[in-house]
Amino acid sequence: MSQPFLSMTNIQKSFNKINVLNNVNFEVEKGEVHALMGGNGAGKSTLMKILTGVYTSDGGTITIDGKEVQLNNPNDASAAGVSMIFQEFSLVPKLTVAQNIYLHREPRNRFGFIDDKKMIEDSQKILNELDLHFSPTDYVEDISVGFWQMTEIAKAISNDTKILIMDEPTSTLTQSETEVLFQMIEKLKASGITIIYISHRMDEIFRVCDRITVLRNGTNVVTDYCKNMNMEEVINHIVGGKLKKAFEWEERQVNRSGAPLLKVENLKAGTRVENASFQLYRGEILGVAGLMGSGRSEMARALFGIDKIDEGEITINEQKVTIQNPQDAIRQGIALVPEDRRVQGLILGHSVKENMILPILSKVSKNGFIQEKRANEIVNDYVKKLNVKTDHIFKQISLLSGGNQQKVVLSKWLANDPDILILDEPTSGVDIGAKSEIIELIREIAESGKAVIVISSEMTELLAISDRILIMKNGVVTDSIERREIATEEDVERAIQNV
Ligand SMILES: Nc1ncnc2c1ncn2[C@@H]1O[C@H](COP(=O)(O)OP(=O)(O)OP(=O)(O)O)[C@@H](O)[C@H]1O
Ligand SMILES: [Mg+2]
Repeated sequence: MSQPFLSMTNIQKSFNKINVLNNVNFEVEKGEVHALMGGNGAGKSTLMKILTGVYTSDGGTITIDGKEVQLNNPNDASAAGVSMIFQEFSLVPKLTVAQNIYLHREPRNRFGFIDDKKMIEDSQKILNELDLHFSPTDYVEDISVGFWQMTEIAKAISNDTKILIMDEPTSTLTQSETEVLFQMIEKLKASGITIIYISHRMDEIFRVCDRITVLRNGTNVVTDYCKNMNMEEVINHIVGGKLKKAFEWEERQVNRSGAPLLKVENLKAGTRVENASFQLYRGEILGVAGLMGSGRSEMARALFGIDKIDEGEITINEQKVTIQNPQDAIRQGIALVPEDRRVQGLILGHSVKENMILPILSKVSKNGFIQEKRANEIVNDYVKKLNVKTDHIFKQISLLSGGNQQKVVLSKWLANDPDILILDEPTSGVDIGAKSEIIELIREIAESGKAVIVISSEMTELLAISDRILIMKNGVVTDSIERREIATEEDVERAIQNV
């Protein structure tokens, strides 16, 4: 076989003497979509940060298109045709789409000024090419998060990218947006662009990728064509054995005879939540399905007092309540694990422990002093339960892998033991092993007489966990379907699309 388009050979990387990549080999052919897989902390992002010049490796070689390259900084990588869409977006919300696409390389006119007209025209061409229906002059902060990513892709394309790395591109996308992304991937592939695709969602990997490379603890486990493997084999490679718990729905008994724990009537908040009414009972896990922009996250934010409630009534335990800020919500026993938790859920300069105990300070304090031993116990317990990969609980949270940061935010609210737990995309970015653990934890919480609202774009997850599913469309709760009446994912899809 001829030389691969990209070869990374014997790549080594340590942080503070802890080995993160151990003689990793990674080869990708031109125009292929190659999945890079592995559990949280396996080393995927680190390997890709080496390919994009964000980190320098401690050893090994990289060749692109037959030439050995030195990628000492992001400019080197960009010159070699490598672009990456990061797990954390790199767009500037206060700038327009066009300004973001051409950030730091704006076209200039002959007087040396930024040529806005050309920038907008060129951006429009790329948006047209990619069949994207938003405007180059839209401000990024005004377009939906799903479009942010499309803007990132447009930015990469405009920069003559040969190798495009996507790190969990669908974690913020809905099913239909994911479809748009997949079509885009087909187009990019057809034009000869090589794609490295990182995701924890098995079904997508089999849908879009030609080959898979699995890493575990910073070493190669397998590289093969998708068609030579089935999902279970890939999962086994990732977790290094069988998955402990299955991803299957278990019918649960929910007693809805008494008064509901939470009753929401005609809730209206901002422009995204028009009219939401529903009831939530103790012991219940209520799923919420809808397209991006349907107002699911905004409904959650309003219930947690982040967004202002304009109209409607909220009743908890038969008492009417007023929620004007998160403190009010917490006092009423509500907790929200937000969707964009990296921004909203963590203090990046603080340790795993500090982040985790923040909402439970009063529970672990005595006479104003934190009981360190008790706090450490709780933190270590969750680290173990969710398999958070960290050297120790005092490690700075920003140095954990993306998925492990997610697990910390989740634990901090689980530890808080709220009556009503609202989870917005709880397993986004989390590996397959931890996903099943999280589903199990959510069930335990419901079993203990609490109630859980789960917003998820991952239909398999929603169906595995929900007792009942609310359908939201254009800010309105349009339906509520018993889980046992749902036979397939398509049933829910249809309800989402056709109301
Ligand atoms: N700058 C750093 N300092 C110390 N440790 C680091 C640093 N960057 C990464 N690590 C560690 O390297 C390991 C691999 O992290 P990496 O981000 O590559 O994982 P990943 O495979 O991308 O995981 P995920 O699926 O969660 O995104 C993790 O244990 C992480 O804590
Ligand atoms: Mg990562």
